[in-house]
This record gives sequence, C-alpha cells and structure tokens, in this order.
Amino acid sequence: MKPIMEKEAAGIKTMYREVLKGLSMRPKTLPSKYFYDERGSKLFDAICDLKEYYVTRTELSIMERYMDEIVSVIGERAMLIEYGSGSSEKIKRILDAESGIEVYVPIDISREFLFENAAIIAGRYPRLEVLPVCADFSKPFDLPHPEKEIEKRVVYFPGSTIGNFHRQEARDFLRNIARVCGKDSGLIIGVDLKKDERVLHAAYNDARGLTAEFNLNQLQRLNRELGSNFDLNKFAHKALYNREAGRIEMHIVSNDKQRVNINGSVIDFEKNESIWTESSYKYHIEEFQELALQAGFHPQKVWTDERNYFSIHYLKVD
Ligand code: AVJ
Repeated sequence: MKPIMEKEAAGIKTMYREVLKGLSMRPKTLPSKYFYDERGSKLFDAICDLKEYYVTRTELSIMERYMDEIVSVIGERAMLIEYGSGSSEKIKRILDAESGIEVYVPIDISREFLFENAAIIAGRYPRLEVLPVCADFSKPFDLPHPEKEIEKRVVYFPGSTIGNFHRQEARDFLRNIARVCGKDSGLIIGVDLKKDERVLHAAYNDARGLTAEFNLNQLQRLNRELGSNFDLNKFAHKALYNREAGRIEMHIVSNDKQRVNINGSVIDFEKNESIWTESSYKYHIEEFQELALQAGFHPQKVWTDERNYFSIHYLKVD
C-alpha cells in the first residue's frame, strides 16, 4: 500500500509544479495530459460519440476496412505497446481479428482507468499476457519484461494524440518511440488530417457543449487535487483553428479581471486573458511522413478514409 501512496503524493507534486510553471508563462498554459482524470476520460469518451467529432469514428472505420493489412504488419509473436490506452476500445478490435499479439502493454496516466481496463482485457483474452504500465508516456519509463517469448515490438499510438505535441516535440517524441521499439520494429500511429476548417471548428465546438465541459473540467480537477479556487462560472471555453500553425487551439478564457489561489500561490487574470490548454495539430500525409523520417522512421504504409479526414501510418525503424 505504502509505495502507491508515495507515488501518488509524488504525482501531485509533479502536477503542482507543472501547473504553476504553465500558469507563469505568457500566454498562460496548462499541460493537456491533465484533461484525463476519471471525469475527463469519461467526457472524452462521450465526445467520441458526438456527430461533430469525426476523429474516433473515422479512425475506427479505417481500422475496420484495413484490419487484414494491420494484422499482417503486426506479424507473429508481437508485443504491442499502446501509448495512452484509455478504454482500450481500439485494441479490442485488433485482438478480435486474431492478430499475432502475445503480449499487450497498455500505458496510461490515469491509474484507476488503466488497471480497470487491463483487467477487462485480461479477462476477455485469457491467452494474452497483459502488463499495464501507469506512466506519463511523454517522459522516459521502463518497459515490463514479458514471460512469453517475443520476436517483435510494435508501438500503437492511435487517436491522433501525437497532434497534442508541437512540431519539435513531436519529432523528439517519435525519436523516443523509435528507441523504445528498437531495430526492425514498428509504429502504428493515427494522425488527424488537414481538412475544411468548418469541419474542424465544429469538432471542437460541439452543440451539446461537451468539449467545453471537457476543457473546463481541468479547472475542477485543479480545485480538487491542488486545492485551488477557480470559479468555473468565471471562465469560458474557446476553440479556434490557427491556419498558419495548422492546429486547433483550445483555451479557457477569463470572463473578468480576477485572482485565483492555488495552494498558496496567487495567479492573476486580466479580463479576456486565456489559458492555452491544448493544441491539436493537423497534418498532410506527406507532412507527417517527413516528420517521421526526421525521427528515424521509414514510412511503410498509410491507410485513409474516402474523405481523407484521418490517416493511420505504419512506420518502421531503420
Ligand atoms: C485525444 C488529443 C486526439 O485533439 O482531438 C478532443 C482531444 N480535445 N476534443 C483531439 C480533444 C478536444 C483529442 N485527442
């Protein structure tokens, strides 16, 4: 019991440090990984069911259509490492398709969610070795050693989470993945594509306001976990497409000049000042392949949908 408690205390400390650092920058920022507490993860799942949010649905349709090819690139005796496994919905589809995955390593920052879903997967696929890792995958972590003999590691990074990284960060991050998989192994990664800006705008400004709730939930989380006193009625959701940068930006805008206290630290807001909470970069296929090349990957295959809304890439390490 004790080591876990200590780990959680350390997690809170890291979070406090990162939050204060972000809020002391100009513009103020918050790391988007903190969206995913239990409520945030549930809200995100609900967003995925919205008609405006084409991302998840489109990725799933591509997977369904090209499942044979996906299974074939994974190969036999594979260890599949999923970055940001969430509710593991996508991997279930691959596992159901009788892939050569022998070991599944889900990695997620949300502890309860991770172990709950790992147990569900282990129950559903009794021959599969499931080795969950609770970690912030944007930082170095240790891979578990499986009992089963493995020939190949494949990293699976669906959902266009790579879009949350700025370009240089994305390159560095891909380079780290290349190191994690090692020679002759691969990466299957979902990447959202550039498209009609009205479609993009609607996807992050849904009519039911779930994206707004998801965005503002961050403040509620800080109030609960860091003891801050953000008044949620005095902040508003804002999402826009920044064409030059090729990204959606989500912000939380202060409705008033106000002062917030976070566990003894004072943060001042001007009226209309924003906290930049997320970037979601959109790529052209060639643009992403170029980035992957710079990180030491060789593009092998790209699968897309008819509308060219989303892409799934298979890349190999040199
Ligand atoms: C999970 C990072 C892919 O950028 O579209 C959904 C998160 N933010 N609605 C995205 C998100 C607002 C999502 N990713």
